[in-house]
Amino acid sequence: MYKIAVCGCGVVGSGVCDALIHQREKLSRRFAQDVGLAYVLDIRDLKGTPYEEYKTDSLETILSDPEVQVVTITIGGLDLAADYCFKALEAGKHVVTSNKAVVAAHGPELEKLAFSKRRRFMYEASVGGGIPIIRPLNICLYANDITEIQGILNGTTNYMLTGMFRRHASFDEMLARAQRKGYAEADPTADVDGYDAARKIAILSSIAYGGFVDYREVPCRGIRKVLLCDHELADKAGFTIKLIAGSRFEDGCVYISVEPKLVPRGHLLSDVNSVYNAILTKGCYTGDTLFYGQGAGKEATASAVVGDIIELLGTPSTVTLPEFVNKKATVAPDNRPARYYLRFTSLRPIRAGSLIDLFGDDTLCLYSKVEKDPWEDIDVDVTGAVITPAFTPEELAEKVPGLNPLGATLRLTLKVLDD
Ligand SMILES: NC(=O)c1ccc[n+]([C@@H]2O[C@H](COP(=O)([O-])OP(=O)(O)OC[C@H]3O[C@@H](n4cnc5c(N)ncnc54)[C@H](OP(=O)(O)O)[C@@H]3O)[C@@H](O)[C@H]2O)c1
Repeated sequence: MYKIAVCGCGVVGSGVCDALIHQREKLSRRFAQDVGLAYVLDIRDLKGTPYEEYKTDSLETILSDPEVQVVTITIGGLDLAADYCFKALEAGKHVVTSNKAVVAAHGPELEKLAFSKRRRFMYEASVGGGIPIIRPLNICLYANDITEIQGILNGTTNYMLTGMFRRHASFDEMLARAQRKGYAEADPTADVDGYDAARKIAILSSIAYGGFVDYREVPCRGIRKVLLCDHELADKAGFTIKLIAGSRFEDGCVYISVEPKLVPRGHLLSDVNSVYNAILTKGCYTGDTLFYGQGAGKEATASAVVGDIIELLGTPSTVTLPEFVNKKATVAPDNRPARYYLRFTSLRPIRAGSLIDLFGDDTLCLYSKVEKDPWEDIDVDVTGAVITPAFTPEELAEKVPGLNPLGATLRLTLKVLDD
């Protein structure tokens, strides 16, 4: 019998237990022997739940059972979950986790430990929930040199950004709604400030480019400053606003960031809405490949965890050491020329000609529809924006002070995603 233990029976863990219970026959057919849930470790007593009969309070009980091949760690947070991963590998178990904080912080050490024990450490569910992306990068696309990854990797912020535009709602209204629906935590910092997406793009980039990207080095900007008027202005110009976690590998360097960007309508990521996630990879042989699906949620994430279990039960002795465990990536800010969206306010309307003189011929000038008539010669609070031609950050920095003499105060700067 293949015995599986689940540590942490919350949203994801209970989904894993359900899948293992309901799909037991199917899984057992595949491996021509019984594959079953054996233990569930959780701090709650689980009384009255379908998991009660599997409940244990002791990791030791799991680790000392020689019939347990796989331990899944679906506890949140960092230290305890990491400790359990290390202990389970030390005890000779395969480990599967959905915990991106553990993978982003301890991935190389855990991979090395697994390799030394001839066991596997797997974490498909840690990025993109139910979307297969880690296995495709490790296997299906491995023949490629991956040069770029662009992703919408956080469902909470995507839900909020989509809702702001569709419902004409403010950031606070959408945050409250996301919290009511269980998409956002009581403390939403990790999602709305981009830290969750930073861990995920760091994990993907480490695998894709073969050097460990420390998530703490990822320049990271969340969505707190994006207002409803930004969505309206961007829409007028044919763009939508998304939190983009992106990286590019060029000349041995990883250019990486998490930031809200204007995405041109028609771009493969522009129609990824609500809680959905998507990851676009560029490979030297495949060109663009898009992965799309539910980036979180009990069932979708459990599907990815069980997918890892299936792979490792099928090929338990296929242990390989990913390149990133022995090499740290060089990380740098992306200073390539990009178009910029600049939102400003002014007491008086600014003529388009003055803005074009400042930024160049291809400048797009936009005014918020909440203003009555921005061209009227009276003092009104005007919110406007420009979409500039492509500039390097230095070139932009030289232009921006030119807004002041026009009477404009810069409020928000966003990059436009390349077509
Ligand atoms: N939710 C998603 O859709 C999703 C998607 C992808 C990845 N993930 C990641 O997967 C991990 C788990 O997420 P989740 O949403 O399932 O979290 P969760 O609902 O909070 O589940 C964690 C479970 O572990 C239990 N736990 C806490 N400390 C424990 C301990 N000392 N011993 C045993 N059990 C303990 C928790 O009990 P208490 O509730 O009593 O604390 C809870 O039942 C996180 O790292 C998360 O980032 C989640």
